[in-house]
Amino acid sequence: MTDTEKNNTTSFLSSNFKPDLSDEAFRRLATHIQQTYGINLWQKRQLVTSRLAAPLRAKGYSNFNEFIDHLLRTNDQGEVTLLLDKLTTNYTFFMREQEHLEFFRKNIIPDLLERHKSDKTLSIWSAGCSTGEEPYNLTMYFMDALGSSASSWDTRILATDISNRALTAAKEGVYELPATVPNEWKRRYFTHEGGDTYRVQPFVRDNVIFQKFNLMDPIQFKRKFDLIFCRNVMIYFDQPTKDSLVERFFAATNPGGYFLISYSENLSPGTPYRRIAPATFQKPR
Ligand SMILES: C[S@@+](CC[C@H](N)C(=O)[O-])C[C@H]1O[C@@H](n2cnc3c(N)ncnc32)[C@H](O)[C@@H]1O
Repeated sequence: MTDTEKNNTTSFLSSNFKPDLSDEAFRRLATHIQQTYGINLWQKRQLVTSRLAAPLRAKGYSNFNEFIDHLLRTNDQGEVTLLLDKLTTNYTFFMREQEHLEFFRKNIIPDLLERHKSDKTLSIWSAGCSTGEEPYNLTMYFMDALGSSASSWDTRILATDISNRALTAAKEGVYELPATVPNEWKRRYFTHEGGDTYRVQPFVRDNVIFQKFNLMDPIQFKRKFDLIFCRNVMIYFDQPTKDSLVERFFAATNPGGYFLISYSENLSPGTPYRRIAPATFQKPR
């Protein structure tokens, strides 16, 4: 097919797409997303319509129902990827909630390094890492704390997300850095690509293992974790989904291990984690 023919086909398909998201189509899609990925879209009908209409039109669907029928019938991975890339919110940045990171630097890092001084191995998970700023940021804190002995430690961070688009950007590791990133870090941990754009250095990138993982799936990693960051992820889930995920995080945490959420979240009062500071929890030893 020539480019002109392709364009003609696209415009033919586009003109046929009906952009109204019916009550029935929205109910089916929101139910599917909530059951499969935990994300609560019930108040976000406008967002669903605006983020999906153009890509569905471009793919040749004639309405939302046709897309949902296809998705539910085939679980077509191409369409699942499109859906997740469009409907997840990947907003994140370096030094997010800096006061929280300062608490982490001053209190949690020294405790973990002390407790692991003989095996020199930490088990860390950035759950819902989006485009990678969080796990790279944590790596920089650990490298600062370890200094010249960093190479004798295993501080590799498992960083997971369900969005392919976010994970691709994360592996690329190129960012416009906010002014809150210290100049010293810009020199040590990045290469300058021009303007505000910086690329994470390979030795920092190598400390992070990116993996696609749906937090609704059973948590069955080889090791339990000394530290889990899950900030600004559960805000998209309803309370029962959140409570059951926290239970699974707890089971996957080593005794004495830490669990950090964001300042805008909280855990249910019945959580087995012990709250040690705002948005900061610990599993009893
Ligand atoms: C707003 S970002 C948070 C990024 C970072 N943790 C922070 O605090 O800046 C939320 C991330 O959670 C991911 N997410 C949402 N539901 C998920 C699920 N069921 N499994 C894994 N990741 C999920 C989204 O794809 C998105 O990248």
